[in-house]
This record gives sequence, structure tokens and C-alpha cells, in this order.
Amino acid sequence: MHFVNLKIVKKQYLALGMLVFVVLFLFNSKPAFQCQFHQEVVGYLPTIYGITPTYSRLAQKADLTRLSQTLMLVKNFHWIVIEDSEKKTKLVENLLKESTIKYTHLNVKTNKAKHSTASGVEQRNLALDWLRKYLQTPEGAPGVVFFMDDDNTYSLKVFEEMRKVKRVGVWPVGIVGGMRVERPLVTDGKVSGFSALWKPYRPFPLDMAGFAINATLFLDYPEAKFSRKVQSGFQESEILKYFATVKDLEPLADNCTKVYVWHTRTQKMAILNPKKLKHPPINDDHIEV
Ligand SMILES: *[C@@H]1O[C@H](CO)[C@@H](O)[C@H](O)[C@H]1NC(C)=O
Ligand SMILES: *[C@@H]1O[C@H](CO)[C@@H](O)[C@H](O)[C@H]1NC(C)=O
Repeated sequence: MHFVNLKIVKKQYLALGMLVFVVLFLFNSKPAFQCQFHQEVVGYLPTIYGITPTYSRLAQKADLTRLSQTLMLVKNFHWIVIEDSEKKTKLVENLLKESTIKYTHLNVKTNKAKHSTASGVEQRNLALDWLRKYLQTPEGAPGVVFFMDDDNTYSLKVFEEMRKVKRVGVWPVGIVGGMRVERPLVTDGKVSGFSALWKPYRPFPLDMAGFAINATLFLDYPEAKFSRKVQSGFQESEILKYFATVKDLEPLADNCTKVYVWHTRTQKMAILNPKKLKHPPINDDHIEV
């Protein structure tokens, strides 16, 4: 009797244990199920085409490493990197290959003969030419175009914001134009002006990092491009004039009250010339920096 009873008790404990296990399992896996479900429901995520001109310099690899490792965290991102060079460099090629980012690597040397201080004009225009063709292929998913300097600082939040763009979305940029923040002013959910100190008479006093454009619009306006003919600081206005007037701009980042991108600059760094040193260091030319 006693023996049988014990067996029943044991079975009950076992059943209870299994029940607890099953309940715990269900609770634990619930968020995962929800996540999968959520992604399937949300479905379409616009592609972000990030256009980044870059040029050879001491801190280039450091800057591109920092940027690429941010971009590796962005979903549906296509990075178009354009070197200002006669030939593609191994440094940039390897950096792109080693990243997990979907990318397109292009190059075009800036024409120095054209006297203009604007940087990245030829490079961004080449990227736009490439993108127009790509968008007409089956892989060319719809999305937005974002012009990204290689030494700015980007919060992941700025990428979430720009996926909401219908035509042209705008947001504040931190530490630019002599200000803590340069930003569109918003009244009743519409852009009503700008807070900018540097050349405030620009048609669109915005930094390159402060807007994104619906990629399809570049097919609707095949003539839209950057120009060497405009004065410095007018590249943003030059491209935006094709797509929008001020009242069409879509204010993002909580009606332009949040800073999700900073116009940081990597300072120009100097190293000593070994040839001029009495006691030069051991040669390190074979090490990529
Ligand atoms: C982007 O622009 C095209 C037309 O130029 C339009 O059909 C499409 O709906 C726009 N995308 C979004 C997300 O509004
Ligand atoms: C922006 O402002 C408009 C008008 O005041 C408001 O309806 C809207 O909810 C605001 N959007 C955000 C994201 O705060």
C-alpha cells in the first residue's frame, strides 16, 4: 500500500513538473513568436540608399570603420560608396567586403580644373546615375536616398525616421553651421521656416545630413543633380529645388525637435615625417592604418 501510494505521489510531482516546464517554455518563447509575427505583418520596409563620397587621407579607414559598423545595424540598407580617385583602392574595397553591408563601390576623380570648393559633386552625381539605372532593374527596390558624409555621427533613429518619407523628409542636424543645432521650424506639423545662421538666405538652409528624398523621384526628375556652378553651401538647395518647395517638406524626428545626426568633423591629424627625423621609427609602410 505504502509503496503504491508513493508511486502515485511521484507521478503527480512528475506531471506538475512537466506542466511547469511547458508553461515556462510557452512564456519564454512568446516574445519570439510575437516578433516574427510583427515583422510579417509590417512586411515592406523601404530600402535606404546611402550615398557616401570618400577620399584618401590619414583618418579615412578610421572614419569608414566607424560608419560601416553603424550601418551594419541598419536593415534594408544599400551603401553606395564613391571614391574620389582614378582607381578604386584596396583599402576601401576590403573594408566594404569585410562589412556585412549591401554595397556598390564606384570611383570618379574630382576635376580640379573646375574652380569650386564644393566637395563630392562628381561623386554624388555618379551615384545618382548608377541609382537611376539600378532602380529600373528588378532588384531596384523603392526607398529613400540619404547623402551621408563619411565622418558624421548617425543615430540608428535617423534611419527609422527616413523610412517615413513620402517625397522629402527633413530633421535637425547637431553641431553645424556655427550652431548647436540647425533645424527646420515647424508650425502645426508643417515646415514654416528654418533656424540657421550660416547663409540663412539659402532657399533650403539645411545640411546634407538633414534630409532624405524618395528614390523614385530621381526617375521622375532625370535632370536632378548637384552642380559646380552654384556658390558654396548651395548644393543642398540645388538638389532639393527639383523635388520640393519649403511647404512640401515633411518634418520628421518629432516635428524636428530631436537630434539624430551630428555634423562631426574628424580633425586633420599630423604625423611626423620619418625622413626628417634624426632617429626615424622602424618602417611601418606595410601596415594599413
Ligand atoms: C515615392 O514617389 C513615387 C512617385 O514619384 C510614389 O508613387 C510613391 O508612392 C512614393 N513613395 C512613398 C513612400 O510615398
Ligand atoms: C507634429 O505636430 C502636429 C501638429 O501640432 C501634431 O498633430 C503631430 O502629432 C506632431 N507629430 C509628432 C510626431 O509629434
